[in-house]
Amino acid sequence: MKESSKIDGMSQLILAIESSCDETAAAIIEDSRKVLSNIVASQIDIHREYGGVVPEIASRKHVELILPVIDKAIKEAGIEKEDIDAVAVTNGPGLIGALMVGLSTAKALAFGLNVPLIAVNHLEAHMSAVHLENEVEFPFVGLVVSGGHTSLYLVKNYREFELLGKTRDDAAGEAFDKAAKILGLPYPGGVEIDRLAKEGDRQAISFPRPFMKTSTLDFSFSGVKTSMVYYLRKHPNPDDNALRDICASYQEAIVETLVDKTLKAAKQSEVKSVVIAGGVACNSRLRELSRERFEQEGIYIYIPSTKYCTDNAAMIGSLGGFMFKNGETSKLNITPFSTSRPKYERGRGGKVKNA
Ligand code: KG4
Ligand code: ZN
Repeated sequence: MKESSKIDGMSQLILAIESSCDETAAAIIEDSRKVLSNIVASQIDIHREYGGVVPEIASRKHVELILPVIDKAIKEAGIEKEDIDAVAVTNGPGLIGALMVGLSTAKALAFGLNVPLIAVNHLEAHMSAVHLENEVEFPFVGLVVSGGHTSLYLVKNYREFELLGKTRDDAAGEAFDKAAKILGLPYPGGVEIDRLAKEGDRQAISFPRPFMKTSTLDFSFSGVKTSMVYYLRKHPNPDDNALRDICASYQEAIVETLVDKTLKAAKQSEVKSVVIAGGVACNSRLRELSRERFEQEGIYIYIPSTKYCTDNAAMIGSLGGFMFKNGETSKLNITPFSTSRPKYERGRGGKVKNA
């Protein structure tokens, strides 16, 4: 196997690959923090026609796109394949067929280049995206909020995450996407609701904020969605203004719940910093309200740039780099996993404990 440059203290170059859902992505990351290239080929336009991600179509598109995307990442970084020290790749959670494409490609490249393979957890990587742009002091409280997950962690260092709370039903992104579908808005719904909400009245409708008055750090979003369904039964066929108000009020209920619980977690854990990451962290109201509330409390708030919040390979390369330094490499027979519950929530592996 190629002599690793980390051993002689030189900079370390990671080729990172991400294909867990509907984005085919590759990046070259230097020393976990410096992005030399970050290529994302999104399939959103293809899946929009079907109102959501079609797993079989996603897998086939990944097969078509993965090699050109990797070639582009290497070219844009201005490096040669032979300069790569390790290949990092998402092995879950995600769509099995989609993950399989990235993982098989990463294995072939690692084998061909004679460098280590590093299998990266997609959720942990969302949290690691913050290290691409900021130096955050540990420990901090991290909220990962995406299409499939809503989880709060106490992050003790680059590799130790303690689960503090999570959704008991729908993820926040799922709640946005399902509501948008009910309202007849195109996929991905979160983006559309965010856009329409900008001109709506956040106080127009009082949607529930589940668990907000209780001490649990868990979330629940399915009731908010049901409440919107009941509202639409009573007020069918909203005109454009009413639709904007529904979006703004619905978004406010989700965002307030997210910010409130994260603040509660930060106070309980007595941390100085909070990180919010994942696709839903692109939401403009979530970015605004969290900045407002945390600054009032004297807590530092970090939210990665939107390009590092939605699925990307740079975040995989960041975490992959930290894992590589830690000696955490994977065997070439490693398999993908689809479950939304990362290894530490299943009570085995890793250094991470369940809360
Ligand atoms: O992290 P991500 O790209 O993929 C997953 O790992 O799930 O997150 C996708 C989710 C989708 O549910 C999408 O609707 C949501 O992020 N999202 C948003 C916004 N942009 C993306 N939700 C609310 N507001 C947005 N601006
Ligand atoms: Zn994601």
